[in-house]
Amino acid sequence: MNDLTIKYNELTAEEFILLWETVWGEGPSFEQTELALRHTLFRVSVYDKGKVVAMARMIGDMGLDYYIKDVVVRPEYQKRGIGRLLINELLKFIRENGVSGTDIFVELCAVPDKIPFYEKFGFDANEAQRLKMMCRVD
Ligand SMILES: CC(C)(COP(=O)(O)OP(=O)(O)OC[C@H]1O[C@@H](n2cnc3c(N)ncnc32)[C@H](O)[C@@H]1OP(=O)(O)O)[C@@H](O)C(=O)NCCC(=O)NCCS
Repeated sequence: MNDLTIKYNELTAEEFILLWETVWGEGPSFEQTELALRHTLFRVSVYDKGKVVAMARMIGDMGLDYYIKDVVVRPEYQKRGIGRLLINELLKFIRENGVSGTDIFVELCAVPDKIPFYEKFGFDANEAQRLKMMCRVD
């Protein structure tokens, strides 16, 4: 961990797509990604001697709603504590920027085998077990 560098709000669209493709197959378009990153509240990325190895980002409205997106650690760098570092940085961002003295709820969508990872940070399925609904807009 000591030889890794953490950067804030510097993750580029090229780096995002590259990391995406190490875990999820073909990534989104450059244009879409660049627009998404421009409208992201907070980005954190991790580098090993200049090579990007992990990323995570936070979207939301800064007041009521924060949403964690695109948490990725390159497969060969997993299980070394980098995922924990990413989530801790995102939660720190909320602590430092959210309205103090209020309850702030942070949401994310976890694939089933990643639920135990997020539970380590206190994330819990909502009581109503609401399902995420999606639709494609052409
Ligand atoms: C999920 C992911 C970000 C975890 O990153 P990581 O760097 O391997 O995680 P860490 O090494 O920081 O692990 C932190 C803790 O979570 C645990 N953990 C990590 N992945 C886990 C899993 N799939 N199931 C259970 N526990 C897990 C670790 O054992 C560790 O526990 P400890 O601190 O008590 O020892 C990484 O596996 C990844 O990028 N996966 C592919 C992309 C993905 O699926 N992202 C999440 C989308 S929902």
